[in-house]
This record gives sequence, structure tokens and C-alpha cells, in this order.
Amino acid sequence: SNISFDYSNSFLEKHEIENAREIVLAAHKKLHEKTGAGKDFLGWIDYPVNYDKYEFERIKKAAQKIRNDTDVFLVVGIGGSYLGARAAIEALCHSFYNMLSKDRKNGPDIIFVGNNISGTYLKHLMEVIEGKDISINIISKSGTTTEPAIAFRILKAYMEDKYGKNEARKRIYATTDKSKGALRELSNKEGYETFIIPDDVGGRFSVFTPVGMLPIAVAGLDIESMIEGAKDGRQEYMEEDIHKNCCYQYAAIRNILYNRGKSIEVLVNYEPSLHYISEWWKQLYGESEGKDGKGIFPAAVDFSTDLHSMGQYLQDGTRHLFETVLNIERAKEDIEIIEDKANLDDLNYLSGRTMDYVNKKAFIGTLFAHVDGSVPNLIINIPKMDEYYFGKLIYFFEKACGISGYILGVNPFNQPGVESYKRNMFALLGKPGYEELQEELKKRI
Ligand code: PA5
Repeated sequence: SNISFDYSNSFLEKHEIENAREIVLAAHKKLHEKTGAGKDFLGWIDYPVNYDKYEFERIKKAAQKIRNDTDVFLVVGIGGSYLGARAAIEALCHSFYNMLSKDRKNGPDIIFVGNNISGTYLKHLMEVIEGKDISINIISKSGTTTEPAIAFRILKAYMEDKYGKNEARKRIYATTDKSKGALRELSNKEGYETFIIPDDVGGRFSVFTPVGMLPIAVAGLDIESMIEGAKDGRQEYMEEDIHKNCCYQYAAIRNILYNRGKSIEVLVNYEPSLHYISEWWKQLYGESEGKDGKGIFPAAVDFSTDLHSMGQYLQDGTRHLFETVLNIERAKEDIEIIEDKANLDDLNYLSGRTMDYVNKKAFIGTLFAHVDGSVPNLIINIPKMDEYYFGKLIYFFEKACGISGYILGVNPFNQPGVESYKRNMFALLGKPGYEELQEELKKRI
């Protein structure tokens, strides 16, 4: 069994895939020969084979220490320095991981911080960590991102107050650039253990670097197996021939659909634990392709939950969307629907069936309904959600994103648009260097 891709419900004909062969090949060459836009940010392609094995061992050691001496592990980061680890932990750990007893989860609670600017969130967090043993992983490639920097300033002071400078330093781990940025300087000065985000790997492509690996290892997950999945994905998805490469088929088909006016892609799952894979995916595609006035808008829904909210729109609303379903073939757990003699709820027709049986029927029923409602449906079949397939799936989407971005004709590896709000915010906050813009904005208020 393997990850497979089914486009039989896409309304596309095989010859249309054939027609995409040349353009996909050109994108493949650009990516692999490093001749396209953003060519300095392609370190993720070979990272699953090139990664620093010595650092990987350090990650495992640090994770073990944290698992031994920590009640609550705080992961401070935003965007690409946040969503990959959260996606993995939510997809692969117990659904109620933080609520399990220490024996059962066999590791610390894991809480993500510094991904918003809410004082309420941080204040509430500080209330619940009181009296617990804490370790922190501050993650920032640039080392200057406002959200994690503010949270870390406050948490660092809290740690030093609680443990004293010496012990606090042993409980703070920094993942950042090897030589540049405020966090690198601060870490060197304070003597934190550090892990490196390579120069040529952008945030949203950094799951397999220490950005993802340390928090994921702290959760007790098998990072070797995850890298193995990515490594096999790298091998399989470098096949040039679109007919033999399901990753390239996905990249090509989403562009064909986009050119037909399907400007929204809705990623669908039937397992709540996949919610953050969708969040990670939204960032990957939104930030990589939404530029130069074009790009598919990436959206996501959790089914069957959202069939009771967004279902109506998907079935009958504006026909400018297509769906991509993540189908986990074998659910991690299942539960039988029992017989009830009185049958007051009329559910006895399901007696002896399992919840996953029902869930799969909901999937097929929805698929046919939405296809009948003229929504092209693409299906990514994943044999099961474990570390190996998580790694492979992440690599599948990363590789497809690089190819898809080049087909679209954008630089998928930059994000100039995210600077605009920051410049305004800094000006409004009175950050030195932004005086002129501050004056301009004041007039607009
Ligand atoms: O993908 C990206 O480049 C961004 O989402 C960044 O990861 C995010 O802005 C965080 O940046 P940094 O790691 O520099 O704090």
C-alpha cells in the first residue's frame, strides 16, 4: 500500500493530463536544476537525505531530557515555525494528549504559544503553568518575528524568576538561523542549546528540520520513521513522467481546474485530528501561490462536522471551487455501534457496524453528492496516519507546491506580501525607523 491519487471525479479526461506533460516537465527541470525563481530556497528537496545526522541525535537527546524533567513544554513560534509540529502532534498523538495522565502519555503537556498577540491567551497560559516544571522551545528563523518575540520575552523573564538564570538556561532551547538574527545573538549570549534552520529552507517547508523535529520528538513520536517517509517521498516524487508521478498529477490538475475558473480549493478530511494538517497546508499553498494577482485560494473543512455548516454552500453555492479529500484508509481506532433492544433512536440498522464504516459511507455519499453538484473532487488516499505516512504526505504537498507554483508562473518560495501589515503595525506602534509611515497612517485614522 502507498499514498495514491484519484482524479476520476475531477471532470478531467486523461488527454488533459497528457497535455500537461510538457509544462510539468519544465517545472520539474526548473526545480531540480535550480534554475527557477526562488532557487536559493530549495534546500527542502534533498533535506530528508542531507540532514545533519549529528544534530538529529542532539534533537533526540534534548527531547529525552525534556520528557524526563518537564510537565509542560511550550513551543513558541508562528507560521512555518509552528504549524508543521502542531499538525504532526495533532495527527499522530492521542486526540486528548494533554489530558492523558502522565503515565499514559509518557511525556509533557505540549502547548503552542507566540502564534497570536493575545494577552488573554498568554495570561491564561501563565495561570495554568503555575507550579509546573516548564521547558521552552523558541523557534524563529529570522529571530525577529513580533508574535513569538513578545511571548518569549515574557516567558523568559518568568523562567528566570522561577528557576534562576542558570537553570532557566538549561530549560530553553532555541531553533533559529546558524549565525544571523536577534534570537541567534540572544541564544549565544545566554548559552541556550540551539538547533539550526538552514538558510535555504523557508519556514513553510521546514517541518523536517529541527523546527518540527524537536517538538515532535518531545511528543514521543518516531522522527526516524517520519524522515523515512519523507525520504521515500523524495525518491518517488522525482519521477519526471506525470503518468507515473501522482504528486505531479495533483500539481497539474489543480492548475487545470484553476484555469477553468475553479479558484478555490477546499481540503477535506473526515478525522478531526487532521485539522492542523489543513492549517499547515493552507499556509503552504496560500503563501507560496497567492501573489502577482493570482493563485488558488486554499480553504479547508472538517467533515462531517462542517457538512452541517458549510455543506449547503459546497453543494449548491457558487461553482468556483473544487475539493481535495484526504482519505485515511485505515482509521487508527474504531468503535462498534451496539444493538439496543428498544431502538428508540431507530439506529438498529447500524448495529454491529463500526463508526469508521459509517464515516466512510459519509465520505462516499458526500463525494457523489458534491460531484453531482458540479464540484470536481480529487482524492488523496493515505493507507493510515502514522509517522511514516505523515512524512510522505508532507513531502507530497511540498513537492506538488513547488511544481504547481512554477506551473502558475510565480515564485513559490518568497512571501513579499506578508511585510505590508507588519510595516503598518510597526509604524503605528512607533518602532524607530518608521516615522514617515507613521505620519502618513495617522492622517488616515
Ligand atoms: O513560511 C514562512 O516563511 C513564514 O510563515 C514564517 O515561517 C513565519 O513568518 C515565522 O517566521 P520566523 O521563523 O522567522 O519567526
